[in-house]
Amino acid sequence: MTETLLVTGGCGFIGSNFIRYVLERDNAVQVVNLDKLTYAGNPASLQDLEGTSRYHFVRGDIGDATVLATLWARFRPRAVVNFAAESHVDRSISGPDDFIHTNILGTYRLLQSALEYYRELPPQEQAGFRFHHVSTDEVFGSLGTEGAFTETTPYDPSSPYSASKAASDHLVRAWHRTFGLPVLITNCSNNYGPYQFPEKLIPLMILNGLEEKPLPVYGKGENVRDWLYVEAQCAEIYTVIQQGRVGETYNIGGQNEIPNLAVVETICDLLDELHPRDDRRSHRDLITFVTDRPGHDFRYAIDATKIRRELGWQPRHSFSSGLRRTVRWYLEHRSWWEPLRSGAYQDYYRKQYRSLHAH
Ligand code: NAD
Ligand code: TYD
Repeated sequence: MTETLLVTGGCGFIGSNFIRYVLERDNAVQVVNLDKLTYAGNPASLQDLEGTSRYHFVRGDIGDATVLATLWARFRPRAVVNFAAESHVDRSISGPDDFIHTNILGTYRLLQSALEYYRELPPQEQAGFRFHHVSTDEVFGSLGTEGAFTETTPYDPSSPYSASKAASDHLVRAWHRTFGLPVLITNCSNNYGPYQFPEKLIPLMILNGLEEKPLPVYGKGENVRDWLYVEAQCAEIYTVIQQGRVGETYNIGGQNEIPNLAVVETICDLLDELHPRDDRRSHRDLITFVTDRPGHDFRYAIDATKIRRELGWQPRHSFSSGLRRTVRWYLEHRSWWEPLRSGAYQDYYRKQYRSLHAH
């Protein structure tokens, strides 16, 4: 029998990779993708799935109770996977409003609506229902040179983005403890790979490098992130949905801690090899040190002992092989990213996909 996953934010980076991952591996699943199509939502990332019977796209907001009620009634999902969020730290500094709106209020409304649906399910379907909330390691704040985040590290967010994600995590736990909603949370480190919007470090550096534009490194480039290839997170989220213990949190990390400058230099070296400049100068010449991000967390690192012990987690890609695949992917998918660089994609999709609920 086909079961339905309601995926929110499925036109974004990780959501689109997740939908593709699930549909390719599990014939018994259909996916409903609820996405508002903000600047970060790009249906082109899933264009090849359109028209296939196991994929349904609905344009709408996770905070819209009317849309949600329609989706529960029509599709009766077995689980919700909540990727929908405003996700970029720099944007949260220049304009926090949308972060509060979607990440906090939107998550609250999605929880409340899911709870109403859950309460009406027959006991057997209630037993299988899951609300999976996708979160970040940034809720734990900044590490010094030593140590790693575990599931019991106290929350200590620095940016409006991470504070809004921390708030959403607390709401999800409260809906479990107070109302009995069967929730799961994963807190993951920085992802990279295909379909990432070119505002985040890795795709921005690849595309600026290809266009021979400056590569802006914040501060001295000494900040450290723990990089995880996106497919690995998708695999693990899917495992947690099926096997995770209700009410639990699982940290997911790449065990690939690398300072930003080293990441950018490696990208430059890959571009030198795969797409040399006409004058043969190294892309490293484009590196430009710029003013640091305010409140810039120094280091993130994940202790993945729990998920390894309980669910057999193993990171599958080394950073160097994952980064090479990613650079190649951007080289081979100009038609995906060129409209993003020019901004042309937004008007087109706004016209093509009318919102389910008129705003
Ligand atoms: P993204 O910005 O690429 O995509 C977000 C998607 O959510 C977009 O398609 C957007 O249109 C949609 N969206 C935004 N507001 C919405 C709303 N109100 N209703 C419905 N849809 C809405 O983000 P991403 O990088 O794919 O991240 C997905 C999730 O994973 C986020 O919750 C983020 O906090 C979390 N996360 C991301 C990373 C990372 O490295 N990118 C790491 C850990 C956790
Ligand atoms: P980012 O991809 O924005 O992810 P996050 O802030 O959520 O970790 O940034 C990754 C790291 O790269 C972070 O330390 C900030 C830094 N950075 C730059 O140095 N230059 C840039 O242009 C960007 C976007 C990020």
